[in-house]
Amino acid sequence: MSIARKAVLTVTANPLVTKLVSKYGMKLGASRFVAGENMADTIRKVKELNREGLVVTLDLLGESVTTRDEATAATQAAVDSFEVIREEGVDSNVSVKLTQLGLDIDFDFCLENMDRIAAKAKETDNFVRIDMEDSPRVEATMEIFKKLLAKYGKKHIGLVIQSYLYRSEKDVEELGELGANLRIVKGAYKEPKDVAYPDKKDVDENYLRLVETHLKNGCYTAVATHDENIIQWTKNFVQEHNIPNDQFEFQMLFGIRETRQRELAKEGYKVRVYTPYGKDWYPYFSRRIAERPANALFVLKSLFQK
Ligand code: FDA
Repeated sequence: MSIARKAVLTVTANPLVTKLVSKYGMKLGASRFVAGENMADTIRKVKELNREGLVVTLDLLGESVTTRDEATAATQAAVDSFEVIREEGVDSNVSVKLTQLGLDIDFDFCLENMDRIAAKAKETDNFVRIDMEDSPRVEATMEIFKKLLAKYGKKHIGLVIQSYLYRSEKDVEELGELGANLRIVKGAYKEPKDVAYPDKKDVDENYLRLVETHLKNGCYTAVATHDENIIQWTKNFVQEHNIPNDQFEFQMLFGIRETRQRELAKEGYKVRVYTPYGKDWYPYFSRRIAERPANALFVLKSLFQK
Protein backbone atom coordinates (compact mmCIF):
# COMPACT_ATOMS: atom_id res chain seq x y z
CA MET A 1 0.00 0.00 0.00
CA SER A 2 1.31 3.47 -0.89
CA ILE A 3 2.30 5.86 1.89
CA ALA A 4 -0.33 8.36 0.68
CA ARG A 5 -3.12 5.78 0.80
CA LYS A 6 -2.06 4.62 4.25
CA ALA A 7 -1.92 8.22 5.48
CA VAL A 8 -5.39 9.09 4.15
CA LEU A 9 -6.91 5.94 5.66
CA THR A 10 -5.33 6.85 9.00
CA VAL A 11 -6.45 10.50 8.91
CA THR A 12 -10.01 9.63 7.88
CA ALA A 13 -10.26 7.20 10.79
CA ASN A 14 -9.64 10.11 13.19
CA PRO A 15 -12.84 10.86 15.17
CA LEU A 16 -12.60 14.66 14.75
CA VAL A 17 -12.10 14.37 10.99
CA THR A 18 -15.00 11.91 10.85
CA LYS A 19 -17.28 14.34 12.67
CA LEU A 20 -16.40 17.35 10.55
CA VAL A 21 -16.52 15.61 7.20
CA SER A 22 -19.75 13.77 8.06
CA LYS A 23 -21.36 17.10 8.85
CA TYR A 24 -20.18 19.10 5.84
CA GLY A 25 -18.81 16.50 3.42
CA MET A 26 -21.82 16.03 1.14
CA LYS A 27 -21.62 19.70 0.22
CA LEU A 28 -17.84 19.60 0.17
CA GLY A 29 -17.56 16.97 -2.50
CA ALA A 30 -19.00 13.60 -1.50
CA SER A 31 -21.81 14.24 -3.98
CA ARG A 32 -19.25 13.62 -6.70
CA PHE A 33 -19.14 9.95 -5.68
CA VAL A 34 -22.61 9.49 -4.17
CA ALA A 35 -25.79 9.66 -6.30
CA GLY A 36 -28.01 11.06 -3.55
CA GLU A 37 -28.91 10.83 0.09
CA ASN A 38 -32.44 9.63 -0.74
CA MET A 39 -34.01 7.20 -3.21
CA ALA A 40 -35.82 9.84 -5.31
CA ASP A 41 -32.61 11.74 -6.14
CA THR A 42 -30.81 8.46 -6.76
CA ILE A 43 -33.41 7.13 -9.20
CA ARG A 44 -33.18 10.37 -11.14
CA LYS A 45 -29.44 9.77 -11.55
CA VAL A 46 -30.01 6.12 -12.49
CA LYS A 47 -32.43 7.18 -15.23
CA GLU A 48 -29.86 9.65 -16.57
CA LEU A 49 -27.22 6.91 -16.65
CA ASN A 50 -29.62 4.48 -18.36
CA ARG A 51 -30.43 7.10 -20.98
CA GLU A 52 -26.72 7.28 -21.77
CA GLY A 53 -26.54 3.54 -22.36
CA LEU A 54 -25.10 2.63 -18.96
CA VAL A 55 -26.57 0.08 -16.57
CA VAL A 56 -26.31 0.41 -12.81
CA THR A 57 -25.77 -1.46 -9.59
CA LEU A 58 -27.26 0.35 -6.61
CA ASP A 59 -25.46 0.29 -3.28
CA LEU A 60 -27.15 1.56 -0.14
CA LEU A 61 -24.22 3.01 1.80
CA GLY A 62 -23.53 1.68 5.26
CA GLU A 63 -21.27 -0.98 6.71
CA SER A 64 -20.19 -2.51 10.00
CA VAL A 65 -23.53 -2.10 11.78
CA THR A 66 -23.54 -3.08 15.46
CA THR A 67 -27.23 -3.67 16.21
CA ARG A 68 -29.79 -6.13 14.88
CA ASP A 69 -32.22 -3.27 14.24
CA GLU A 70 -29.76 -1.50 11.95
CA ALA A 71 -29.07 -4.75 10.07
CA THR A 72 -32.78 -5.48 9.71
CA ALA A 73 -33.40 -1.96 8.41
CA ALA A 74 -30.58 -2.30 5.85
CA THR A 75 -31.99 -5.68 4.76
CA GLN A 76 -35.45 -4.17 4.31
CA ALA A 77 -33.97 -1.26 2.36
CA ALA A 78 -32.22 -3.67 -0.03
CA VAL A 79 -35.43 -5.69 -0.45
CA ASP A 80 -37.37 -2.47 -1.12
CA SER A 81 -34.81 -1.27 -3.65
CA PHE A 82 -35.70 -4.24 -5.88
CA GLU A 83 -39.34 -3.08 -5.78
CA VAL A 84 -38.35 0.49 -6.67
CA ILE A 85 -36.21 -0.76 -9.57
CA ARG A 86 -39.17 -2.75 -10.88
CA GLU A 87 -41.69 0.07 -10.41
CA GLU A 88 -39.45 2.70 -11.98
CA GLY A 89 -38.46 0.39 -14.83
CA VAL A 90 -34.76 1.23 -14.50
CA ASP A 91 -31.92 -1.07 -15.59
CA SER A 92 -30.18 -1.76 -12.31
CA ASN A 93 -29.27 -4.56 -9.98
CA VAL A 94 -28.16 -4.26 -6.33
CA SER A 95 -24.89 -4.63 -4.41
CA VAL A 96 -24.74 -5.24 -0.65
CA LYS A 97 -22.14 -5.56 2.11
CA LEU A 98 -22.54 -8.34 4.65
CA THR A 99 -21.31 -6.26 7.60
CA GLN A 100 -24.30 -4.01 6.92
CA LEU A 101 -26.54 -7.07 7.22
CA GLY A 102 -25.16 -8.17 10.58
CA LEU A 103 -22.12 -10.32 9.73
CA ASP A 104 -20.24 -9.03 12.78
CA ILE A 105 -23.25 -9.67 15.03
CA ASP A 106 -24.20 -13.23 14.19
CA PHE A 107 -23.48 -15.41 11.14
CA ASP A 108 -26.90 -17.10 10.97
CA PHE A 109 -28.74 -13.81 11.39
CA CYS A 110 -26.70 -12.35 8.52
CA LEU A 111 -27.36 -15.42 6.39
CA GLU A 112 -31.12 -15.06 6.96
CA ASN A 113 -30.97 -11.38 6.00
CA MET A 114 -28.98 -12.13 2.86
CA ASP A 115 -31.38 -14.96 2.04
CA ARG A 116 -34.32 -12.51 2.12
CA ILE A 117 -32.52 -10.18 -0.27
CA ALA A 118 -31.56 -12.99 -2.67
CA ALA A 119 -35.15 -14.28 -2.59
CA LYS A 120 -36.37 -10.82 -3.57
CA ALA A 121 -33.76 -10.60 -6.34
CA LYS A 122 -35.10 -13.86 -7.73
CA GLU A 123 -38.76 -12.85 -7.32
CA THR A 124 -38.17 -9.63 -9.27
CA ASP A 125 -36.02 -11.46 -11.85
CA ASN A 126 -33.06 -9.38 -10.82
CA PHE A 127 -29.58 -9.91 -9.35
CA VAL A 128 -27.76 -9.13 -6.12
CA ARG A 129 -24.00 -9.05 -5.72
CA ILE A 130 -22.22 -9.38 -2.39
CA ASP A 131 -19.36 -6.89 -2.16
CA MET A 132 -16.15 -8.19 -0.59
CA GLU A 133 -14.92 -6.44 2.55
CA ASP A 134 -11.69 -6.75 4.55
CA SER A 135 -9.80 -10.03 4.81
CA PRO A 136 -11.09 -11.26 8.22
CA ARG A 137 -14.59 -11.38 6.63
CA VAL A 138 -13.68 -13.18 3.41
CA GLU A 139 -14.18 -16.75 4.65
CA ALA A 140 -17.65 -16.08 6.11
CA THR A 141 -18.64 -14.10 3.02
CA MET A 142 -17.61 -17.02 0.77
CA GLU A 143 -19.61 -19.41 2.93
CA ILE A 144 -22.80 -17.33 2.79
CA PHE A 145 -22.39 -16.79 -0.93
CA LYS A 146 -21.94 -20.50 -1.69
CA LYS A 147 -25.02 -21.46 0.32
CA LEU A 148 -27.20 -18.88 -1.46
CA LEU A 149 -25.69 -19.61 -4.88
CA ALA A 150 -26.80 -23.22 -4.45
CA LYS A 151 -30.29 -22.03 -3.46
CA TYR A 152 -30.93 -19.17 -5.92
CA GLY A 153 -28.52 -19.79 -8.81
CA LYS A 154 -25.90 -17.70 -10.60
CA LYS A 155 -28.57 -15.69 -12.45
CA HIS A 156 -29.62 -14.06 -9.19
CA ILE A 157 -26.57 -13.83 -6.94
CA GLY A 158 -22.89 -13.04 -7.47
CA LEU A 159 -19.75 -12.21 -5.49
CA VAL A 160 -16.67 -9.97 -5.59
CA ILE A 161 -13.09 -11.23 -5.58
CA GLN A 162 -10.09 -9.00 -4.77
CA SER A 163 -6.86 -9.46 -6.73
CA TYR A 164 -4.67 -8.18 -3.86
CA LEU A 165 -5.40 -11.30 -1.79
CA TYR A 166 -3.09 -14.32 -2.18
CA ARG A 167 -6.06 -16.67 -1.67
CA SER A 168 -8.09 -15.27 -4.59
CA GLU A 169 -6.55 -17.49 -7.28
CA LYS A 170 -7.76 -20.57 -5.46
CA ASP A 171 -11.15 -18.97 -4.74
CA VAL A 172 -11.67 -18.12 -8.42
CA GLU A 173 -10.86 -21.72 -9.41
CA GLU A 174 -13.31 -23.06 -6.86
CA LEU A 175 -16.08 -20.59 -7.72
CA GLY A 176 -15.46 -21.20 -11.43
CA GLU A 177 -16.43 -24.85 -10.90
CA LEU A 178 -19.74 -23.58 -9.51
CA GLY A 179 -20.21 -21.29 -12.54
CA ALA A 180 -20.34 -18.21 -10.29
CA ASN A 181 -20.82 -14.69 -11.63
CA LEU A 182 -17.84 -12.75 -10.23
CA ARG A 183 -16.81 -9.12 -10.12
CA ILE A 184 -13.03 -8.85 -10.06
CA VAL A 185 -11.58 -5.80 -8.23
CA LYS A 186 -8.11 -4.92 -6.98
CA GLY A 187 -9.25 -4.48 -3.36
CA ALA A 188 -9.86 -1.35 -1.33
CA TYR A 189 -8.93 -2.15 2.30
CA LYS A 190 -5.76 -1.78 4.31
CA GLU A 191 -4.41 -5.36 4.42
CA PRO A 192 -1.30 -6.91 6.01
CA LYS A 193 1.52 -8.39 3.93
CA ASP A 194 0.77 -11.92 5.02
CA VAL A 195 -2.63 -11.94 3.28
CA ALA A 196 -2.29 -9.45 0.42
CA TYR A 197 0.32 -8.53 -2.20
CA PRO A 198 2.01 -5.35 -0.99
CA ASP A 199 3.18 -4.34 -4.49
CA LYS A 200 0.75 -2.82 -6.96
CA LYS A 201 2.51 -4.61 -9.82
CA ASP A 202 1.64 -8.00 -8.31
CA VAL A 203 -1.95 -6.91 -7.63
CA ASP A 204 -2.33 -5.84 -11.27
CA GLU A 205 -0.76 -9.06 -12.61
CA ASN A 206 -2.97 -11.18 -10.41
CA TYR A 207 -6.00 -9.21 -11.62
CA LEU A 208 -5.30 -10.28 -15.21
CA ARG A 209 -4.77 -13.90 -14.12
CA LEU A 210 -8.12 -13.94 -12.31
CA VAL A 211 -10.04 -12.42 -15.23
CA GLU A 212 -8.35 -14.83 -17.66
CA THR A 213 -9.11 -17.88 -15.50
CA HIS A 214 -12.73 -16.97 -14.97
CA LEU A 215 -13.44 -16.09 -18.59
CA LYS A 216 -11.69 -19.26 -19.82
CA ASN A 217 -13.83 -21.26 -17.40
CA GLY A 218 -16.82 -19.92 -19.32
CA CYS A 219 -18.10 -17.83 -16.40
CA TYR A 220 -19.63 -14.37 -16.38
CA THR A 221 -17.01 -11.82 -15.34
CA ALA A 222 -17.44 -8.21 -14.30
CA VAL A 223 -14.16 -6.39 -14.91
CA ALA A 224 -14.44 -3.63 -12.30
CA THR A 225 -11.60 -1.18 -12.66
CA HIS A 226 -10.66 2.30 -13.90
CA ASP A 227 -7.27 1.02 -14.99
CA GLU A 228 -6.89 1.66 -18.72
CA ASN A 229 -4.25 -1.06 -19.16
CA ILE A 230 -6.62 -3.67 -17.77
CA ILE A 231 -9.53 -2.39 -19.85
CA GLN A 232 -7.42 -2.59 -23.03
CA TRP A 233 -6.04 -5.98 -22.09
CA THR A 234 -9.59 -7.29 -21.55
CA LYS A 235 -10.77 -5.97 -24.89
CA ASN A 236 -7.87 -7.74 -26.65
CA PHE A 237 -8.26 -10.94 -24.63
CA VAL A 238 -11.97 -11.38 -25.37
CA GLN A 239 -11.35 -10.76 -29.04
CA GLU A 240 -8.48 -13.26 -29.27
CA HIS A 241 -10.42 -15.93 -27.41
CA ASN A 242 -13.81 -15.32 -29.03
CA ILE A 243 -15.43 -14.53 -25.71
CA PRO A 244 -18.91 -13.16 -26.48
CA ASN A 245 -19.87 -9.68 -25.23
CA ASP A 246 -22.63 -11.17 -23.09
CA GLN A 247 -20.09 -13.11 -20.95
CA PHE A 248 -18.54 -10.04 -19.37
CA GLU A 249 -19.11 -6.41 -18.50
CA PHE A 250 -17.02 -3.46 -17.43
CA GLN A 251 -17.86 -1.79 -14.14
CA MET A 252 -16.74 1.56 -12.77
CA LEU A 253 -17.68 3.70 -9.82
CA PHE A 254 -20.19 6.54 -10.02
CA GLY A 255 -18.36 9.81 -10.74
CA ILE A 256 -15.08 8.23 -11.82
CA ARG A 257 -13.90 8.24 -15.46
CA GLU A 258 -17.39 9.17 -16.62
CA THR A 259 -16.27 9.95 -20.18
CA ARG A 260 -14.59 6.56 -20.48
CA GLN A 261 -17.74 4.84 -19.19
CA ARG A 262 -19.76 6.42 -21.99
CA GLU A 263 -17.14 5.68 -24.68
CA LEU A 264 -17.06 1.99 -23.79
CA ALA A 265 -20.86 1.81 -23.87
CA LYS A 266 -20.84 3.46 -27.31
CA GLU A 267 -18.32 0.85 -28.49
CA GLY A 268 -20.94 -1.76 -27.65
CA TYR A 269 -19.67 -3.04 -24.30
CA LYS A 270 -21.93 -3.43 -21.32
CA VAL A 271 -20.85 -0.88 -18.69
CA ARG A 272 -22.31 -0.93 -15.21
CA VAL A 273 -21.94 2.03 -12.89
CA TYR A 274 -21.66 1.19 -9.19
CA THR A 275 -23.92 3.84 -7.76
CA PRO A 276 -23.84 4.41 -4.00
CA TYR A 277 -26.62 6.30 -2.26
CA GLY A 278 -27.77 7.06 1.26
CA LYS A 279 -26.69 9.07 4.25
CA ASP A 280 -23.89 6.85 5.51
CA TRP A 281 -21.36 7.76 2.83
CA TYR A 282 -18.30 8.57 4.97
CA PRO A 283 -16.29 5.30 4.88
CA TYR A 284 -16.92 4.87 1.15
CA PHE A 285 -15.87 8.47 0.48
CA SER A 286 -12.68 8.03 2.54
CA ARG A 287 -11.64 4.99 0.50
CA ARG A 288 -12.09 6.92 -2.77
CA ILE A 289 -9.88 9.75 -1.47
CA ALA A 290 -7.31 7.25 -0.17
CA GLU A 291 -7.07 5.56 -3.57
CA ARG A 292 -6.33 8.78 -5.28
CA PRO A 293 -5.48 11.73 -3.06
CA ALA A 294 -5.97 13.95 -6.14
CA ASN A 295 -9.67 13.40 -5.50
CA ALA A 296 -9.27 15.55 -2.41
CA LEU A 297 -8.77 18.42 -4.85
CA PHE A 298 -12.41 18.10 -5.86
CA VAL A 299 -13.32 18.59 -2.25
CA LEU A 300 -11.16 21.69 -1.97
CA LYS A 301 -12.43 23.09 -5.28
CA SER A 302 -16.02 22.66 -4.19
CA LEU A 303 -15.28 24.96 -1.26
CA PHE A 304 -14.91 27.80 -3.77
CA GLN A 305 -17.78 26.87 -6.06
CA LYS A 306 -21.41 27.78 -5.64
P1 FDA B 1 -6.09 1.78 -9.68
O1 FDA B 1 -6.43 2.29 -8.32
O2 FDA B 1 -4.78 1.13 -9.90
O3 FDA B 1 -6.26 2.98 -10.69
C1 FDA B 1 -5.98 2.88 -12.07
C2 FDA B 1 -6.29 4.23 -12.75
O4 FDA B 1 -7.68 4.48 -12.66
C3 FDA B 1 -5.63 5.41 -12.07
O5 FDA B 1 -4.35 5.61 -12.53
C4 FDA B 1 -6.58 6.53 -12.42
O6 FDA B 1 -6.32 6.98 -13.71
C5 FDA B 1 -7.92 5.84 -12.39
N1 FDA B 1 -8.58 5.96 -11.05
C6 FDA B 1 -8.60 5.01 -10.11
N2 FDA B 1 -9.28 5.41 -9.01
C7 FDA B 1 -9.68 6.65 -9.28
C8 FDA B 1 -10.41 7.58 -8.53
N3 FDA B 1 -10.86 7.31 -7.29
N4 FDA B 1 -10.65 8.77 -9.10
C9 FDA B 1 -10.22 9.05 -10.35
N5 FDA B 1 -9.52 8.19 -11.09
C10 FDA B 1 -9.25 7.01 -10.58
N6 FDA B 1 -13.20 -3.08 -3.55
C11 FDA B 1 -13.37 -4.01 -2.60
O7 FDA B 1 -12.48 -4.25 -1.80
N7 FDA B 1 -14.56 -4.70 -2.53
C12 FDA B 1 -15.57 -4.50 -3.41
O8 FDA B 1 -16.61 -5.14 -3.32
C13 FDA B 1 -15.39 -3.51 -4.42
N8 FDA B 1 -16.35 -3.24 -5.34
C14 FDA B 1 -16.07 -2.41 -6.41
C15 FDA B 1 -16.99 -2.24 -7.45
C16 FDA B 1 -16.65 -1.51 -8.57
C17 FDA B 1 -17.63 -1.37 -9.68
C18 FDA B 1 -15.37 -0.89 -8.66
C19 FDA B 1 -14.96 -0.12 -9.88
C20 FDA B 1 -14.50 -1.01 -7.62
C21 FDA B 1 -14.82 -1.74 -6.48
N9 FDA B 1 -13.93 -1.87 -5.44
C22 FDA B 1 -14.17 -2.81 -4.47
C23 FDA B 1 -12.77 -0.95 -5.34
C24 FDA B 1 -11.50 -1.54 -5.93
O9 FDA B 1 -11.02 -2.57 -5.11
C25 FDA B 1 -10.42 -0.47 -6.08
O10 FDA B 1 -10.12 0.03 -4.82
C26 FDA B 1 -10.79 0.66 -7.00
O11 FDA B 1 -11.52 0.22 -8.11
C27 FDA B 1 -9.53 1.37 -7.52
O12 FDA B 1 -8.76 0.48 -8.27
P2 FDA B 1 -8.68 0.47 -9.87
O13 FDA B 1 -8.95 -0.91 -10.33
O14 FDA B 1 -9.62 1.45 -10.44
O15 FDA B 1 -7.17 0.74 -10.21
